[in-house]
Amino acid sequence: MTRLVRTTATALSALTVAGALAGCGGSDAEAAETLTVYSAQHESLVRTMLEGFTEETGIALEFRDANDAELANQIVQEGEASPADVFLTENSPSIDVLDREGLLAPLDQATLDQVGEQYRPSSGNWTGFAARSTVLVHNPAQLPAAELPASIMDLANPEWQGRVGIAAGGADFQAIVAGVLALRGEEATRAWLEGLERNADVYPSNTAVMVAADEGKIDAGVMYHYYWYRDQAENALKGDDAELHYFRNQDPGAFLSISGAGVLASSDQPEEAQRLVAYLTSPEAQQRLAESTALEYAVANGVASAEVLPPLEELQAPPVDPGSLDQQRVTELMQDVGLL
Ligand SMILES: [Fe+2]
Repeated sequence: MTRLVRTTATALSALTVAGALAGCGGSDAEAAETLTVYSAQHESLVRTMLEGFTEETGIALEFRDANDAELANQIVQEGEASPADVFLTENSPSIDVLDREGLLAPLDQATLDQVGEQYRPSSGNWTGFAARSTVLVHNPAQLPAAELPASIMDLANPEWQGRVGIAAGGADFQAIVAGVLALRGEEATRAWLEGLERNADVYPSNTAVMVAADEGKIDAGVMYHYYWYRDQAENALKGDDAELHYFRNQDPGAFLSISGAGVLASSDQPEEAQRLVAYLTSPEAQQRLAESTALEYAVANGVASAEVLPPLEELQAPPVDPGSLDQQRVTELMQDVGLL
């Protein structure tokens, strides 16, 4: 990120767990037993996965919720003085920014061992705790299956002008760009982004892209899988006509975005912070993810994701070390071509 975002008056919200430390959360006397968690993942998912942590460990949790870039920038600015003990991202590029800055502590090997190797960086300084698949959401009346693009790279071609939607400003789409950059290199990524700048309508969110495809405003859009599955589970209120296309075939369009968890090197409670990440990646917490309404993918060894989802191993995601995604270069490239 070239631009530092200052978050002001970010609300601190204490997670209160029934029966545990009742009436004491947030007081100075309890400070030594409270971990501060900066979290950019969906609040409900994180709270569901961490259910029972405070009861089991006696460690209370205080959350600061904001988006990936805001929290990463805040931690970089705060440096050694950051109150954050643990950082949870929705997409991994932001936690990798901290890894590159040397702000993360190595995770316990036992924690790393709970998660499939492809869902964590080779550095060992953070781990994935959820995964999300890139998909093409499309309107089958306007874009029948026979005319679907073979690759996400095709969306830069002239025949896609005015027909495709992206949420360019979001960390989700930018993680996909980081995947394209890691897989295809800078020249191809720049050309692809230039094509998208010509072709695409830009929407504020994944959901807005899905709704636009459903209503036929665009033929297709790039987003993550779970927005569609969650909508289907809620009686397809927003996307009853829209369908999903998986690119598969190790295409950059089959990129899996990893949600990352790490312990800050500056934490004054490193053992408790390590326990939190161990808990989040434990089979129990991962099972709660699988059974939740989030419909993101579990990444712990031996834990199956929600049955309604196509199995992760069948998505033919391209092999990308999540520690090789370069958020800063992505931001620069997107600014260069006018997408940001
Ligand atoms: Fe999301």
